[in-house]
Amino acid sequence: MSDDASARRERLVEVYREASTCTLCPLAETRTKVVFGAGNADADLMFVGEAPGADEDRQGLPFVGRAGQLLNDLLAGIGLRREDVFIANTLLCRPPGNRDPQPIELETCRPYLHAKIELIEPKVIATLGNFATKLITNNQTGITRVHGKPQTHTLGERTVRVFPIFHPAAILRNPNQRPMMDADFAALRALLDEPPPPQPQPQDAGAPAGPVLSGSPPAAAPAEDQLDIFGGG
Ligand code: URA
Repeated sequence: MSDDASARRERLVEVYREASTCTLCPLAETRTKVVFGAGNADADLMFVGEAPGADEDRQGLPFVGRAGQLLNDLLAGIGLRREDVFIANTLLCRPPGNRDPQPIELETCRPYLHAKIELIEPKVIATLGNFATKLITNNQTGITRVHGKPQTHTLGERTVRVFPIFHPAAILRNPNQRPMMDADFAALRALLDEPPPPQPQPQDAGAPAGPVLSGSPPAAAPAEDQLDIFGGG
């Protein structure tokens, strides 16, 4: 691993520690575990889903239920494994009863998502479903109209290709849409092989590197085994 990648990975572990004890919104009171995200800390491809469900809340890992199984199959179909990509959500914590994320929760959690994007430096972000797509593209157009069409956005300090896709749970509900999902994944594979977008020039060379979250240290260190969620080492 390059020095740069290993410094970014270390910083990601720090953000993970901070997130593990987050109490910035009321979801902290009802969650079992924070679901920070998992995968390759230096991935070219990052997925952003909606929010943890019951299985994810119990295990502290994203997409481990039925939708996750389907995501694994779709990845395998384009020659990728979970360990090759990073998987995150718009929210770190499960909304009670799997209700929709609320605007205040999305806003409160957004710095964690931007920190992950800035530290992992993905070339492509695949947004899964309406909530992730609307949040990342900052546009209210629904997934039915935008899926399968690449966009380019600057998020925090990074310019990335954004590729909206239906949420795997939507395909579980409507299996007849699977061929369309396979076609979107094939287009995603092709997008990964294209050169990355040009990055914005730093405005102020003296500014501290890396994303800044709240300054408070974590109240308690997470169990060491949870740190294994970041591959790419
Ligand atoms: N659905 C999501 O959007 N995220 C998960 O982590 C699991 C299911």
